[in-house]
Amino acid sequence: MAVIADKCPEIEITLVDLNEERINAWNNNDLSKLPVYEPGLKDLIKKNRNKNLFFTTNIEKSIPDSDIIFISVNTPTKEKGLGAGYASDLKWVESSARTVAKYARGHTIIVEKSTVPVRTAELIKKILNSSHSSDLNKNFKTSFSVLSSPEFLAEGTAIKDLENPDRVLIGGEDNDAIKKLSLIYQRWIPINKIFITNVWSSELSKLTANAFLAQRISSINAISALCEPTGADIREVAKAIGADTRIGKKFLEAGPGFGGSCFQKDILNIIYLSRHYGLEEVANYWEQVILLNQWQKKRISNLIVETFFGTITSKKIAILGFSFKSNTNDIRESPAVYIAKELLENDANLFIHDPKVSERQISALLDESESNLKQNFINHNWNFSRNLEDVFTNADAVIILTEWEEYSNIDWKRFSALMKKPSWLFDTRGLVKDSDLNGTELNFWKIGKGFVFRN
Ligand code: UDX
Repeated sequence: MAVIADKCPEIEITLVDLNEERINAWNNNDLSKLPVYEPGLKDLIKKNRNKNLFFTTNIEKSIPDSDIIFISVNTPTKEKGLGAGYASDLKWVESSARTVAKYARGHTIIVEKSTVPVRTAELIKKILNSSHSSDLNKNFKTSFSVLSSPEFLAEGTAIKDLENPDRVLIGGEDNDAIKKLSLIYQRWIPINKIFITNVWSSELSKLTANAFLAQRISSINAISALCEPTGADIREVAKAIGADTRIGKKFLEAGPGFGGSCFQKDILNIIYLSRHYGLEEVANYWEQVILLNQWQKKRISNLIVETFFGTITSKKIAILGFSFKSNTNDIRESPAVYIAKELLENDANLFIHDPKVSERQISALLDESESNLKQNFINHNWNFSRNLEDVFTNADAVIILTEWEEYSNIDWKRFSALMKKPSWLFDTRGLVKDSDLNGTELNFWKIGKGFVFRN
């Protein structure tokens, strides 16, 4: 919305949320306190806030005033009930639709922006047209058009992706509504990049794009495991296959497994849908992408424990990077969460560093681990610091889990001298070059290559 506001100064955009704390944070004069860290976002907010971009909790007023409403709420995987563990929980989409139905006046275009399972637009339509909502609105003439326009931005490059998208999808039946939305995008996106489809193709395209991207990562990670015992190097393999234009060179970086709020959730959705339609083989095929991803995380935590002959009790282990990728402070489904929990289970003493993630965010995920709850005590065997010196001092091992740029510029000679001997470096992102370690005594393991030096 910040990008639309920037590109279309004559359009007034209001972001509404029930959560007052969040809205206050978006209105904060101190722009370093915005709820989301995303390169370039701060500048857009600074430039456009309170001009044509507003943040408010006043839903009752904002909905009737709007011509177009984007539903952009979260749709996490259901934790209980029918479809638990696979299907998306649509309770926020539903309640948004009900709220819109209650307060809308005149004709309103609803745009489904959240990633949703196929045929969700139909559910939204039903809610909007239900007798219940028209009862509430009986003194006003209301009508709705529902469009699907899924978002393909990636975190960390969101502004760039929005300003120059590969494509924009608009799914729908109402040509007037499609035209209105398309005209907004056409302000800065060439018309040949705006694809018009039916609603279900649009919804399914979003799930499929994420499934294909995740599948690529599981594929390269599977090969990374095969490289390690055979003496191949995954970066050389990735370069060789990526030069084939049919394969392409992007998204071929082996790592500790994909994280983030989308990939796993969207594949789980495809699995659920496939099973629903009796397509067991299709479901099993996609499920394997998730299983491989879980295995990759597990094999990394196992490898670390095994390197110390099965016991890392009280070993100081430094974790570099906690976000699921660089340039974001998002830790949802971050491989770091799983790997850190496994090491804590093995009684390691963790020292975590991340340039953007806060200690509070980490605590919310680590201190609520199941085994802590079961044992009724908090195994708070971890510390957090933004100072690399604290993190390295007396560490037995360092594990790079996120590809933050600053980790590729570490002075290894200086920092490894602070560590206990023998000291270990596990690079799960392939950031460190062998030559960076000249003059150190580090033992070095690298994803997709295995042990490079082992003293
Ligand atoms: C993804 C999609 O890219 C985006 O189009 C969609 O709208 C939302 O989901 P995002 O989750 O923000 O975006 O990040 P992405 O860059 O896709 O990375 C996802 C995960 O895959 C990260 O954990 C990342 O580290 C990992 N990854 C990515 C790799 O391990 N190797 C790669 O080569 C690329």
